[in-house]
Amino acid sequence: MTSLLKVDNVVKNFGGLTAVSDVSLTLNTDELVALIGPNGAGKTTLFNILTGVIPPSSGSIVLAGREGTVALNGKSAHKIARLGLSRTFQNIRLFKELSVLDNVMIAMTSRYKEGFWSSIFRSPKFYKTEAQMKAEAIELLKIFEFQGQLDTAAKNLPYGIQRRLEIVRALATKPQILFLDEPAAGMNPDETEDLTQLIMKVQRTFHITVVLIEHDMSLVMKIAQRIYVLEHGSLLAEGTPEEIQQNDKVIKAYLGEEA
Ligand SMILES: Nc1ncnc2c1ncn2[C@@H]1O[C@H](COP(=O)(O)OP(=O)(O)O)[C@@H](O)[C@H]1O
Ligand SMILES: [Mg+2]
Repeated sequence: MTSLLKVDNVVKNFGGLTAVSDVSLTLNTDELVALIGPNGAGKTTLFNILTGVIPPSSGSIVLAGREGTVALNGKSAHKIARLGLSRTFQNIRLFKELSVLDNVMIAMTSRYKEGFWSSIFRSPKFYKTEAQMKAEAIELLKIFEFQGQLDTAAKNLPYGIQRRLEIVRALATKPQILFLDEPAAGMNPDETEDLTQLIMKVQRTFHITVVLIEHDMSLVMKIAQRIYVLEHGSLLAEGTPEEIQQNDKVIKAYLGEEA
């Protein structure tokens, strides 16, 4: 396990509000990390910063990945996605009218540079790339048990399956790090259990780093190897599930709510 993403002293101010305050953390290769904390703690904001949706006010983010060592500060979301950081959002963002297969193929196009011009001129290269993309998309969809549903419109899938499709879309960009923002939100217990298995399978099958924002503590404690706890924009604690469960600060600030 080696260090993959190093986040140092990241701050995000929205006007007078400090949503993320001096956060430093490290993500290693091939691990499943959870980011927990009460509503408004800054979890989504931190994801937005790390994936280039918004710039940090200050601080540094350095990826030591397959393209060498790259500073991510100031890079666009598109560039960061190409460097291998992929995410899902708290709200489902599928193309609802499009098929399952098309949803995944669109996500893949971000990896192919010639997409735009060759799709206009329909060059042989376009056909080759499209055939290749389609085969890859189908293979990925099979792993996640979408066979038989490739032509189904996304809007006709049950909610839990739509969320699963979102994860497949995020994986279609071949990430090194996958960020999942409350993937179990709105799911029933069966769907949550399925999702838990799926996230573990994704992490193990692809040997990628998965960062999970999740409120369901039993899910977090079951699958996370390490946990970061955020409160009022600051890191309160870091550790294994056992360490976090016994951490006095965490018990007081967070787990205490339910105790
Ligand atoms: N674009 C924004 N503009 C202003 N304030 C924001 C913005 N995004 C988030 N915030 C504020 O930052 C804080 C952290 O929010 P968020 O990161 O969504 O928390 P969490 O995901 O932990 O619930 C909240 O007080 C929220 O209202
Ligand atoms: Mg959030």
